[in-house]
Amino acid sequence: MIAEHNLQLDPQKNLHHFLSIEGLSRKHLTSILEATHSFTNVAEQSVKKVPLLRGKTIVNLFFEPSTRTRNTFELAAKRLSADVLNIDINTSATSKGESLLDMLHNLEAMHCDMFIIRHAYSGAAHFMAQHVAPHISVINAGDGCHEHPTQAMLDMFTIMQHKSGFALLKVAIVGDILHSRVARSQIHALNILGVEEVRVVAPKTLLPTAVETLGVHVYHHLDAALQDVDVIIMLRLQHERMQGALLPSQGEYFKNYGLTEQRLALAKSDAIVMHPGPINRGVEIASSIADGTQSVILQQVTYGIATRMAIMSMTLGRMPNHSSHPSTTE
Ligand code: CP
Repeated sequence: MIAEHNLQLDPQKNLHHFLSIEGLSRKHLTSILEATHSFTNVAEQSVKKVPLLRGKTIVNLFFEPSTRTRNTFELAAKRLSADVLNIDINTSATSKGESLLDMLHNLEAMHCDMFIIRHAYSGAAHFMAQHVAPHISVINAGDGCHEHPTQAMLDMFTIMQHKSGFALLKVAIVGDILHSRVARSQIHALNILGVEEVRVVAPKTLLPTAVETLGVHVYHHLDAALQDVDVIIMLRLQHERMQGALLPSQGEYFKNYGLTEQRLALAKSDAIVMHPGPINRGVEIASSIADGTQSVILQQVTYGIATRMAIMSMTLGRMPNHSSHPSTTE
């Protein structure tokens, strides 16, 4: 397989596709965060639109369910004045046996400019990027257990809105790390942006082997892991990807790994609580925490629109990118 960082960058190292956080530089990430910042006020305008992608056609291809990602991609594209096609996979010809590649080439024949894909198979977005015409950009909206890079970028932007910088942050990611594409992208992004410490917290059955090699400290006890952290990221149990019983029961899981008010008090007093959604109240997070003053869960959703506007504009060459946007850090 061709290394993703080669595939998603053009020869000038500008983003052409957006497939994974792994392989990107700090300059790429800071450029996305700066571009995101420039789009946050669009929603406050009386006409919530800018003409940056007028005349472009963007295709949403979601082979797995989604509420946040699919709808914020659609809103982001519309706010950039692009035309949007939402393909209903259940009524498309893939249900008659058409292959993904044939579907792709038919959509290409309709002069589309960007494919946004969510798929159960790790590497699906990468595969599409290898086969599309050179002018088309592919964005990964979550591929199997691999990566969910736009989620990680909206999470980094949310952290930036609440903390003065990344360098001194301790971040705990709690839950089903094994099946989480979100966690994988977040770990790469946090390390690229230079946080002090990333902690992952889970029972042994929900951690990938050799997870330490990703640049994290491993904890099996939530109380110890939450001591003095600045950011807590809770994850859902991803039953749809689990093979066999990995946990005794959901009740037992909440007892050991659920975020409660008592546990939140172990973190720094200004710690923020994040969750990519969908949340399962009473399974990984108490309702009082999800709705509490330290929760930024709905802000993550809002920032997802500006983040996706930034990434779509950059990959289609309409915003400053890695090489044209000087940054003090590499
Ligand atoms: N965070 C996230 O990917 O949510 P959806 O599955 O609703 O898109």
